[in-house]
Amino acid sequence: MASPRPDDHVIILFGATGDLAKRKLLPGLFHLAKAGLMPENYRVIGSAPAQFALSDEDFRKHAKDAVREFGSSKPTGAAWDAFASALHFGAADPKDPGPLVAAVQAAEKEIGGKARRIFHLAVPPGAFGSVVGLLGDSGLAENARVIIEKPFGTDLASARALNKAVHAVFDESQVFRIDHFLGKESVDNILALRFANGFLEPIWNRDHISHVQIDVPETIGIEGRAEFFEGTGTFRDMIVTHLFQVLGFVAMEPPTSLSAKSLRDEKQKVFDAMQPLDVAHVVRGQYRGFRAEPGVSPKSQTETFAALRVEVDNWRWAGVHFYLRTGKSLGQRRQTITVTLKGPTLRMFPVSTRASREGWGNQLVIDFDDPGWIATRFLAKEPGPVMRLGEAEMTFRYADSFLRAHELEGYERLILEAMLGDQSLFTRSDGIERLWEISTPLLENPPPVELYSPGSWGPDSIHRLIAPHRWYLPDNH
Ligand code: BG6
Repeated sequence: MASPRPDDHVIILFGATGDLAKRKLLPGLFHLAKAGLMPENYRVIGSAPAQFALSDEDFRKHAKDAVREFGSSKPTGAAWDAFASALHFGAADPKDPGPLVAAVQAAEKEIGGKARRIFHLAVPPGAFGSVVGLLGDSGLAENARVIIEKPFGTDLASARALNKAVHAVFDESQVFRIDHFLGKESVDNILALRFANGFLEPIWNRDHISHVQIDVPETIGIEGRAEFFEGTGTFRDMIVTHLFQVLGFVAMEPPTSLSAKSLRDEKQKVFDAMQPLDVAHVVRGQYRGFRAEPGVSPKSQTETFAALRVEVDNWRWAGVHFYLRTGKSLGQRRQTITVTLKGPTLRMFPVSTRASREGWGNQLVIDFDDPGWIATRFLAKEPGPVMRLGEAEMTFRYADSFLRAHELEGYERLILEAMLGDQSLFTRSDGIERLWEISTPLLENPPPVELYSPGSWGPDSIHRLIAPHRWYLPDNH
């Protein structure tokens, strides 16, 4: 099926000289251009406060360096020249949006006709409100959509205030709150796996599922992001933002269609059914050495690790625990969902020591790190004269199974969807507010951080949190 092409656009990147633009947005836009998925006519205008202003020339050079370092497509040849010629810069401050307004008007004139505007707010969360205000005051918000980065607020009150500020300028239908995990192929594939096939749905419930783990360990530390991280922490940076969204896809009821409304309504019902977090079932960790990072307080209580138990109290999931874990400086980078089914009613078979030690079998594992894979783990008879079971696995790997020519990275996919006006994979104001609401007990009364060694899997109390089950990662332990 041919991919739809967005209408003509002027794309404005706030935070164009920042880290996200360098690592993801500029390389991603160029990759979309190379893949023929950008509008027929477009301009990309980088923006930043006046003290960071660049000339068009310098912005093109900045973008080229970014694409060279982080892009999957290298910045060469006619494709790069065409992309580079669409890049411009326009500084903007709340008191003086003039250069940006002029750059947008010039771009629209060059394109001719009625180009849409899309603003990507790749700025620190504290600046969302003032940039949205600037867009409203300067008239730039007309005929526009806005992509807002995360975290959207830091608690319920700030998320409500931010939604209010955004809605004073934009209608909800123009707002695209981005969560790049929802743009990952294998996260979307959860929907296909569950709802395009008939074999899982009958068992996808409390009658058959014992518990679910969503486990996203990272090996990276805070990588020079001390200032952001110290004020944010892993719970806000990863759990509220990414892992709860993945949980929404795992736990939702079948939507009636793939429309943005149906999908987001079903996800919302999951969030509504999520119980306020119980701090007795939360572990906050901090890696040893974090307090010595430049910009971090020597007494910091910011968590670089969080593990928690979540309950979704509805007819499908009552009594099934969802265990979420993520952290920095851990032993391995993985992005994994493990759904463990209940065991057979009668256990007749002798099982190999390893299979019994590791609780092998009855698991569906979804690895959603690009390119992603899905495995079912089960017990099978070991060949030989005795009836004894050993561990077996069937795996589907994206990398081996489909042509990867059309593969887009999370951000690329989502920027494309936003230009197409499809909000299915973006978070909605009520969803985000509900997630902060259920997080309130933890935010108001956080347990002290427990230290863990870099390269480990978190503080020791994670085992108590999940007992009588065990964490499936690392795979072989
Ligand atoms: C970001 C977080 O949103 O996601 C980072 O701010 C985290 O702290 C990153 O490392 C993980 O994303 P990815 O693309 O590596 O899956």
